[in-house]
Amino acid sequence: MNSLYRPKPVTVRKIVIENEAKDIKTFELVFLSKEDRERFKFTCGQFAMLSVLGAGESPIGIASSPLDDEYLQFTVKRYPTGVLTTALHSLEEGSRIGVRGPYGNFYPLETETMEGKNILMVGGGFAFTTLRSTIRYLLHEKNRSRFKDITVLYGARSPGELIYKSELKEWEERGGITMYITVDKGDENWEGRVGLVPNVLKEVAPSSENTVTLICGPPIMLKYTMLPLLDLGFSPEKIFTSLERRMSCGIGKCGRCNIGSKYVCKDGPVFTYREIGELPEEAL
Ligand SMILES: Cc1cc2nc3c(=O)[nH]c(=O)nc-3n(C[C@H](O)[C@H](O)[C@H](O)COP(=O)(O)OP(=O)(O)OC[C@H]3O[C@@H](n4cnc5c(N)ncnc54)[C@H](O)[C@@H]3O)c2cc1C
Ligand code: FES
Repeated sequence: MNSLYRPKPVTVRKIVIENEAKDIKTFELVFLSKEDRERFKFTCGQFAMLSVLGAGESPIGIASSPLDDEYLQFTVKRYPTGVLTTALHSLEEGSRIGVRGPYGNFYPLETETMEGKNILMVGGGFAFTTLRSTIRYLLHEKNRSRFKDITVLYGARSPGELIYKSELKEWEERGGITMYITVDKGDENWEGRVGLVPNVLKEVAPSSENTVTLICGPPIMLKYTMLPLLDLGFSPEKIFTSLERRMSCGIGKCGRCNIGSKYVCKDGPVFTYREIGELPEEAL
């Protein structure tokens, strides 16, 4: 097999069930070889191809921080008819799978586009994964002072569908980050905010001044969140989002993921709202 496509072996060290429906799990992976780990240098926003023998492979966003150097984490939603996601969800701790990557572009955290700026992150559902990677990275003592205010607005359909619950609580309780957590519909135990992400955004009305936005969520949420952001004065070049397309190679060779002349695997998955507007088809 061409070495470009050869997955590196990893052990599934830990599996966490994230939601009440039990169809979202976080997999903590450790490389069998130290060299493979050292070579796997990534930045927030990138993805990797995860493979299970006999079930193929799929692109999954990296949910851990680049500074979590012992392990990688991926949060995966299982689709009832999805071959790879079902195979992943059937694994037990100690299983061996494959990882290749990291692939794609990333949020411009190390450039003046983001450094020294206020950072607003808006997430919905399980697509919150790469924002979680970014929050962990930004809050790290090495990085926190390089950025101004950090604000996170995260929503899920119901309280049971919120992922990373213990971390959400930690972030709510610590300083240096403002959290707005919302659910579309509460339950008898939920004392938090209820409301759709775009509506909460309008209500909270964060300042667009000197602020860069990262937004990840289901396409419908993205569409309806862009409008209030533009109304609040955010410019399309300062809104970054991540696109999903079916992929095969993950490295710009097969043409499976293209939108016009852009390959989502190589030119993306991160695009500004301005770039998305210039794509030849409706990309969101
Ligand atoms: C850059 C990138 C990052 C991604 N990050 C993540 C991530 O962090 N976590 C995660 O869980 N997924 C992520 N995905 C989506 C993930 O790649 C797909 O869900 C996965 O490839 C499905 O593989 P499968 O073999 O289980 O499904 P397949 O066997 O290929 O598909 C079978 C059926 O499952 C359903 N299905 C599969 N995928 C989806 C989907 N995304 N939405 C709706 N229905 C679907 C469809 O009905 C489809 O016909 C990402 C995709 C991209 C491109
Ligand atoms: S997945 Fe092959 S070109 Fe993008």
